[in-house]
Formats: sequence, C-alpha cells, structure tokens
Amino acid sequence: MSYVDKTYIITVSIKERKVIVLSEKKFNMDTFVNSVSVKNVGFCYKGSEKRIFTNANMEVPSGQFCCLLGQSGCGKSTLLRLIAGLEKPTNGEIFFGGIPHRGPGLEKGVVFQDYGLYPWMSTGKNIELAIEQRYPKMSKQEKEEKAKTWIEKVGLKPEVYNMLPKELSGGMRQRCAIARAFAIDSPILLMDEPFGALDAVTRSNLQDMLLELWRDANPKKTVFFVTHDVDESLLLAERIFVIGQGSNDIVFETKVSDEQRLVRGRDDNLKTIELRNELIHQINEDVQSMAEQNERNEDNEKQI
Ligand SMILES: Nc1ncnc2c1ncn2[C@@H]1O[C@H](COP(=O)(O)OP(=O)(O)OP(=O)(O)O)[C@@H](O)[C@H]1O
Ligand SMILES: [Mg+2]
Repeated sequence: MSYVDKTYIITVSIKERKVIVLSEKKFNMDTFVNSVSVKNVGFCYKGSEKRIFTNANMEVPSGQFCCLLGQSGCGKSTLLRLIAGLEKPTNGEIFFGGIPHRGPGLEKGVVFQDYGLYPWMSTGKNIELAIEQRYPKMSKQEKEEKAKTWIEKVGLKPEVYNMLPKELSGGMRQRCAIARAFAIDSPILLMDEPFGALDAVTRSNLQDMLLELWRDANPKKTVFFVTHDVDESLLLAERIFVIGQGSNDIVFETKVSDEQRLVRGRDDNLKTIELRNELIHQINEDVQSMAEQNERNEDNEKQI
C-alpha cells in the first residue's frame, strides 16, 4: 500500500531560542518517512570563505536517536540548520525518506516561533499556538486538551497551563519546549544543546524524560541531539557522530549497543568506559590535527 501524507519537522534550539515548524512537505510514508540522508554535503556561510563542510555523508534510519559531538565551532549547529532547511548546502543534498529536501520549496512553509515562549502568553496558549499551526482545523477544545495532555506527559502540574513563562524555572520552560515539540507530532526532532544550561539533577531528569517520550512514541521520532557532554551522548544515543573541524566533516561515527550504553549509577561497565575513551580520543585527535594544520598555515603565510 502506498500513500502520501503531510509531515512536519520541528526544531528546538536553546541558543537560537526558536521553535521552527517546517510545514506542508509531502513525503511518501512507505519509504521511511523520517529517515535522513546527508549526501556529499558541502557548506560555507554566505560572505564567508570558511568551509564548514566539504563532503559530509550521513545515513540515519527512521526513528534513530543520534547525538552529534565535536569541538566548539566545528559545525554542529550548522548541520542542524542544514537538516532543518534553514541553510542550503553549497553542494550535495539532504533527503528525507528518499525525497530531496530543497530549501526554497520549504521556505514558504517555515514558521518561526520564539523558543523561550511568548512572554505575554500562558504556557498552555504557547503550546496551543504551535498545535494550531500544525493542525489548523483542530477545534479549540481539542487543542486545549492536547496541550494539557502534553503538559502532564512532561511531568508538569496542570496549573502550569495558565502560568506565564516568567513564572517558570529554566527546567520547567525546557519541559514546555519539549511538550510543544511532541504536541505537534513532528517526525524529526532537532535539539541543539537543549539541556546545556540546566543543573545536574534537572538535566538528568529531563534526559530520562526525553528518552521515555522517544521510546513511547509511535512511530519513533528521528532525533538529532547536539551535546558537548560525552556521557550525555552515551546515555541517550543509539548512534554518535563526532563532527570534525577543518576539512574533516565527520571524523568518527559509532553505534551504541545496549552493552555500551551508560546506565546511571553503574560507572564500572568496561564497554561503556572503552567507548567513552574512544570518543574523547577522537575529539582530542581532531583538535590536535586542527592545531597542527593552523600552525602549518601560519608557517606558509610567513614564507609567502
Ligand atoms: N551566520 C554565520 N555566518 C558566518 N559564519 C558562521 C555563522 N554561523 C556560524 N558560523 C561559523 O561556522 C562555524 C560553525 O559554527 P556552528 O555554530 O555550527 O558551530 P558549533 O559546532 O555549533 O559550535 P558550538 O559548540 O560552540 O555551538 C564557526 O566557525 C562559526 O564561526
Ligand atoms: Mg552550536
């Protein structure tokens, strides 16, 4: 059976304080609607000579939870922006479910929202606004019910529905952002260091909650989660990519098996320790090779 349905992509960015809904893109649901292929992608920001990516390739199957690691400035956020369609590859292409994902076609359907929640609107209304963009024909009552359900699912009390963002803690606001991302049933979730600003306890609670929501979702969302924290990636990801600086786009990638997964309170698992060491080694090696390359460039410039 073959049919086509509308699907939506949404991103949560703590740095850019935005939730973005890319809407009304038709995909064939039979062909892994939320699988993502990054094929021979090169990228350079307009007006800049610095090449962020030269020939990046990634094949991410539907429903996989991926973490992106790498030194500051290596291009993790840029890669999310490319996947979101906010930037267009200089060369190569990105595919969703085998369908090319071209910027201009999607730009019309992009809706920007403030990630930090509109300050004059209650939490509930903030979530309902996103639902309205996703489901324009949904009745007011249904939207309210959906928002309330998601507020509860992310572990917030019902009274949060009527509260203004300024009355919420950082962790509560982040739960709201996740509620909003899930409430619009997006098949792809792009998260840019979403827990970076939270304290350790709140952070671990939200990591557990995100994993639970991801595991329970049917169909499972394909997640791209940027973090600087190797342990966070070992706890969350099924697959980890280390993004390189310079001309190395992706310096390392690995699957994380159940035996390698970091489990809270069990710090002595040798398989986890091995993988953690390998990831740290790969990141450090990339930093080292970039430093050497810079030194060579400086020497060449002096000689000229
Ligand atoms: N709008 C822009 N115009 C030009 N260059 C940019 C722009 N945004 C980012 N860059 C450059 O692109 C490179 C990659 O930036 P990006 O923000 O993707 O890195 P990152 O890996 O997310 O870093 P961090 O871990 O610090 O968030 C950096 O050298 C940055 O200076
Ligand atoms: Mg970044």
